Amino acid sequence: MPTPVSAIYKLGIPHNKFSLTMPDGTYYPDFITTPDKRPVEFLKNFNRIRTKPWEDCSFLDLGCSEGTTTLGLSQMGSTVYGVEGRADGIDRANVLKAIVDFKKTHFSVDNVNNESAFREVDGIFNAGILYHLENPVEMIERCCKYAKSFVYVDTGHAPKNEEERRDSKFSPYFGREFTIEYRGLKLKAVDFAEPGDTREKVNGMRRGPRSGIGNSNSVWLAHESLIELMEKLGFPYHETIKYVPIIPRLRTCFFREPPTASATSLTLLQPLPPAESVDAAIQRTVARDLEFLAQTDSEITLVGRDPLMTQVRQMLEENGIGVNNDVVVPGVHGDVIPTGVLNKLLADKTGIIVIAAPNPAKTIHPLVKMDRFELAITSLAISLSPNSD
Ligand SMILES: C[S@@+](CC[C@H](N)C(=O)[O-])C[C@H]1O[C@@H](n2cnc3c(N)ncnc32)[C@H](O)[C@@H]1O
Repeated sequence: MPTPVSAIYKLGIPHNKFSLTMPDGTYYPDFITTPDKRPVEFLKNFNRIRTKPWEDCSFLDLGCSEGTTTLGLSQMGSTVYGVEGRADGIDRANVLKAIVDFKKTHFSVDNVNNESAFREVDGIFNAGILYHLENPVEMIERCCKYAKSFVYVDTGHAPKNEEERRDSKFSPYFGREFTIEYRGLKLKAVDFAEPGDTREKVNGMRRGPRSGIGNSNSVWLAHESLIELMEKLGFPYHETIKYVPIIPRLRTCFFREPPTASATSLTLLQPLPPAESVDAAIQRTVARDLEFLAQTDSEITLVGRDPLMTQVRQMLEENGIGVNNDVVVPGVHGDVIPTGVLNKLLADKTGIIVIAAPNPAKTIHPLVKMDRFELAITSLAISLSPNSD
């Protein structure tokens, strides 16, 4: 029996960048309605060198966060492993897996700097993780050792020239440029500043849960150097499928054998649930959230400012839900609430936060860092201000 969607109310506040669709047609988290295109992109490109039925294929997702990408990669019914260094991500991933009832998806907690995080698979999904490591070369060595035929890399790279470095939105974080000598190759790299305090939790605040674990510096390889390295390690064929100069970030597929000419469309054999329209999904989420709030014993704190504050309180009252605390944030309608300000305002509060700001997704960011609330409800504010993000 699949786990009911209501299990998400025990998952705390998610920090994902992409949504997962739930069997009731809603989005998780409800404040993000953008699906992640990369897992299907991976599957389409893996298909170019696939030599056996999908059900016999296996994949590994490194730094899988809350499991959304891993579940996306599971849509052909293959065996898929997601490994993540932060345990709360894996707790969430396991519940999401049980909700969508994907039996061949497996999650574990491990640091990708450990060889134990790797296993032999047909393809490796290496996304959003290589550029968080101090030793990206070692990770690439392991990917090439453990992937039988395919490695998909989505990562930030050392800027290719002064202009790209200057124009990058991460320009202040780049440090020394240097060369790594590796088996006759001269790999170009640049230092990148991760958050300086490497402790995971300090004074009720947590380190950004999407950052590197335990390192205040990571090393970004140049794209051309990654290509040379992959070739040296047995993956001589590659195709760059996306280039975002403002970071610079690229998505590159690496193949051990020559792939067929181009990726073609794919009929998913075990698709994730289809989403409702955004409006219908949020209305359904509002109904579910109100039902949940009506029976909770937890303290409820309403955070925001008028006019949404009054409107959200009214919705709660109409449904017999009492609010324990009102926290009015300074500023004008539409402002982002800085983490420090919100932390002070919520100093003595725990339990459930109901956001009454027009940009709930932005208020979530500081709440995630505070790491002490059971849940943040965003659907009411979204339904009342549907044109804000
Ligand atoms: C930027 S997020 C990317 C998440 C996902 N792979 C994606 O592309 O959307 C980086 C993830 O890698 C995890 N991570 C960072 N350093 C790690 C390490 N050394 N070992 C395991 N996981 C790590 C973080 O906790 C976070 O979940």
